[in-house]
Parts: sequence; C-alpha cells; structure tokens
Amino acid sequence: SGFPSVLKNSLLKLGVPKDILEFLFGKIGAADDYPKIPEAKGSVSAIRREAFFIPLYELYLTYGGIFRLTFGPKSFLIVSDPSIAKHILKDNSKAYSKGVLAEILEFVMGKGLIPADGEVWRVRRRAIVPALHKKYVAAMISLFGQATDRLCRKLDEAASNGEDVEMESLFSRLTLDIIGKAVFNYDFDSLKVDTGIVEAVYTVLREAEDRSVAPIPVWEIPIWKDISPSQKKVNAALKLVNDTLNDLIAICKRMVDEEELQFHEEYMNEQDPSILHFLLASGDDVSSKQLRDDLMTLLIAGHETSAAVLTWTFYLLSKVDAVLGDRFPTMEDLKKLKYTTRVINESLRLYPQPPVLIRRSLENDMLGEYPIRRGEDIFISVWNLHHCPKRWEEAERFNPERWPLDGPNPNETNQDFSYLPFGGGPRKCVGDMFASFETIVAVSMLVQRFNFQMAVGAPPVQMTTGATIHTTQGLKMTVTRRMRPPIVPTLEIPAVRSDSSVNVSDIS
Ligand code: HEM
Repeated sequence: SGFPSVLKNSLLKLGVPKDILEFLFGKIGAADDYPKIPEAKGSVSAIRREAFFIPLYELYLTYGGIFRLTFGPKSFLIVSDPSIAKHILKDNSKAYSKGVLAEILEFVMGKGLIPADGEVWRVRRRAIVPALHKKYVAAMISLFGQATDRLCRKLDEAASNGEDVEMESLFSRLTLDIIGKAVFNYDFDSLKVDTGIVEAVYTVLREAEDRSVAPIPVWEIPIWKDISPSQKKVNAALKLVNDTLNDLIAICKRMVDEEELQFHEEYMNEQDPSILHFLLASGDDVSSKQLRDDLMTLLIAGHETSAAVLTWTFYLLSKVDAVLGDRFPTMEDLKKLKYTTRVINESLRLYPQPPVLIRRSLENDMLGEYPIRRGEDIFISVWNLHHCPKRWEEAERFNPERWPLDGPNPNETNQDFSYLPFGGGPRKCVGDMFASFETIVAVSMLVQRFNFQMAVGAPPVQMTTGATIHTTQGLKMTVTRRMRPPIVPTLEIPAVRSDSSVNVSDIS
C-alpha cells in the first residue's frame, strides 16, 4: 500500500484517534485502504469464431468473481459473482448504462429499448411493456402453434425423403416468422421462401454480430464506410428493412384510424394483435424514428435469442437420447408440459442467451469490496454464473430434474442472481413470458411428432459467439416421424396430449 496509508497506520499505532485520522486523511488514504481488483494476466484475443466466454470461464476459476482484463488500451471488468451482478443490474442499476453494447448496436437499433439509456429508455419501457400484456401473450400461443406446424410440415418432407436437416437455420426462420407477426403483423414466411426482405434482415443481423466481435471498428473509417462492398450491402439491407418497417407503420396507422375499438389496458385488435398496433392505438406519442428503432430492437431481441434457445435445447435433447438409449426409449418421458419447461430452464442455464451482459459505470461505485471508477466497461458473465462449479452440482451436466417439477419456475429472484436467463432488475427482458411460451410450444410440438437424432457424420457441434451463442457448423439432425404410443386401455389417457395444451399457470 502507498505512503498515505503507511503514515496513517503509523499515526494510529502512536495513539492518534481513528476519527481524527479519517478526517485528516479523508479521501487520500481511502482508495489505498481498499483491496485492488485482481488483474488477469495473459491475453484473451478477440478472435472471431472463437467463443470468447470460454477463456473468460477459465480466468474466472483462477481469479474469482471479479477481475480486470486488459488488452491494449481497453480494459474490462469481468463479473461472475451473483451479489455483484445483482448490485449492477438491480440495486444500483441507475449508475450503469449499456456502454459498448449501445455503441455497437447504434447503426441498427438507434435508441431502441435495448441500447437506450436514461430518460429515453424510461419513457420507451413504459410505453412498450404494457403491449405485452397477458391477453396478448395468450393470443400469441396459437401463432406459435401455427408457425411450428409449418416447420413440422417441412420436417415431414425431410423425413419422407430421408434428408437430414440443419436445425439452427430452421429455428432461426421459425422465430423470425413468429416475431414478424407478433411485433408488426408481417409474415416473413421465411420457412417457405427466401424473399429480399428476409435476406436483408439476415444481412443486418450478421453485421450486428460481426461488429460485436470485431477487433477494429472498420465501419467507423469515413471512406471505408462508403466504398467497401460489404458495408454497401449492409447499408442497402438496412434501407430495405427500414423502408419496410416504415410501410408497415403507415399501414397500421391507417387501420387504427379506421377502427372503432376503445383503447384500454388489455386492448387487442383480433385481426392484428401486434405490438405495433397496440402502440399506435395507445396514442403513444413518439417520433417515427424512435418507433422504428423500437420495432427493430424487438425484432432482433425476440428472434435470435429464441432461435438459439431452441437450437441448444435440441442439441441437449439429442445427447439425452444417446446417453439413455433403450432404457429411456425416446423423448416420451417429456410428457408433461412442466417437464418441457424444466428442459428449457436447464437449456438456458447451460447456454444463456446472450452469454454476457454489458454495462458501463456512469459514476464511481463499490463492487463488493472494490471501488470502481466511472467509465468502467463491465461484462457480467452469465455463462460463468450458470456454470459455477460451487453453485451447481455437476454444473456441466444437462439435468432438467435439478429443477423440482412442482417447484417455482426458476428466475433471478428465487435463485438469488446465480441464474439469470432473462437478466434482472429494471432492464430485465420484456419478452420473457412470450419467449417461454414460444419455446415450450415449439419443443413440445416437435418432440411430439418427430424423433431427433444427430445426423450420421454431422459436423461436431461447437460454439461461436455473436450476440447469442451459435454453432460453428450448424446442428445437423436426422428427423423421423414418431409413432404415437399405443393406447393401452388399462392406463390413463397418454400424457403426450397434455404437452400440446399450454397452461399459463404452469409457467408463471
Ligand atoms: C432484454 C434474454 C426473448 C425483448 C433481455 C435481456 C436478456 C434477454 C438476458 C437483458 C439484457 C441486459 O440486461 O443487458 C432473452 C432470451 C429470450 C428473449 C433468452 C428468448 C428465450 C425476447 C423476446 C422479446 C425480447 C421474444 C420481444 C418480444 C427484449 C427487450 C429487452 C430484452 C426489448 C431490453 C429491455 C430493456 O433494456 O429495458 N432479453 N430475451 N426478448 N429483451 Fe429479451
């Protein structure tokens, strides 16, 4: 420790009262009395394709719940401690912004709900959350069913032809179709056709992911921005998506003007139950740019995440099949919706989407015993929280039964911030209910109709990072139609049926 604290300690030993010393030394000695945040040595290169949260896990095992990572001029605090995560996300959330994340996403989300901070965020959150009311989410269940049914038909074809399917891209299309309808009543129909707009959405998404893992922000270089073919393509795609959104806003405005429905808390237009319709009907006083930013944010937030959850769930389920073989015939044990829910809970523990949450401190603060300064970039590693060997028994094992079937649905509150599938505090996911229903409906319908196995000779399933965890080479599976189990009269009605009827109270 430095000179002031040596002096202070010496004076203390000489009998000078502590109060007087505190007064005399005030802040000078203060920082010295605090322990220093451990610094991780060695470099973690931000190599594209490599899942960067894996080396962060290794460092966490060495350096603990909070450490500093420096590369070049940049420095990050890596947080893997539940109580510090809770402090940042919830107890002192006002002192943190979205930092780097907001900078990266600005080109596509502008000041949408995910990157926005301060007053803009507060106003928009207040406008958007009511749109996802209970009646809306309940109405979405049939949409989830219809969209999944389209996927089933596609799988049926593949099963008939004996073709393997790449599930990651199929899930991505399933959730794109769902979110388009749910947010602005647009049918991408991407499971069937590859229209220009679908391609444009993917171009924009890929760019957002590329930027989040790029070591150098080339898109900020003035000339590059205009002449690079890839940037030109991105700009064209962005324009197409924006124009489409603006058209949809105009169409919806006309519908709202013509309808007679009174606006109320659980307002919903049966023909168009979308979030956009709710916002316009509510008289939401907002610039068209802000509205577009919010729609784009919801589109991206509600698409990639759910697709990633489904992809990794099916990967995990295929492992169960392999492990249990004949003893556990197929997936017939996933008989109750509750069990399906636990499968999703556990999939989200092993593969949290996104694997890290990003913040920047807006003022000096204390993280646990450590003081930090304003302007610190912070990664809260949800991956580390969810894989902590001290917190979780057999942390790496996919074990849905670790969550008692009759227990509450696990969330950040009842798990004391050691499990945060949807974040926590004021910035918690607004689509958590939506996403839970969506993934449960899709999983239950798919496993009810098909058996899924890893395809023979499928590429190894490895992780890479974008905004969510992707596979490096897809999730190649063989689907076969599932015979319904014979109905044996002495048994109760096969419970398989109960999987397709979603019960709201099971999840909340
Ligand atoms: C925020 C996860 C689906 C909309 C978040 C956050 C997480 C998350 C962890 C917190 C981010 C942070 O604190 O930095 C997920 C997962 C999903 C999912 C795992 C799927 C299984 C959805 C859906 C929607 C949505 C379907 C829209 C309908 C949002 C929005 C925010 C958010 C708007 C930002 C909220 C704010 O900052 O106030 N999500 N999400 N998410 N999510 Fe989700």
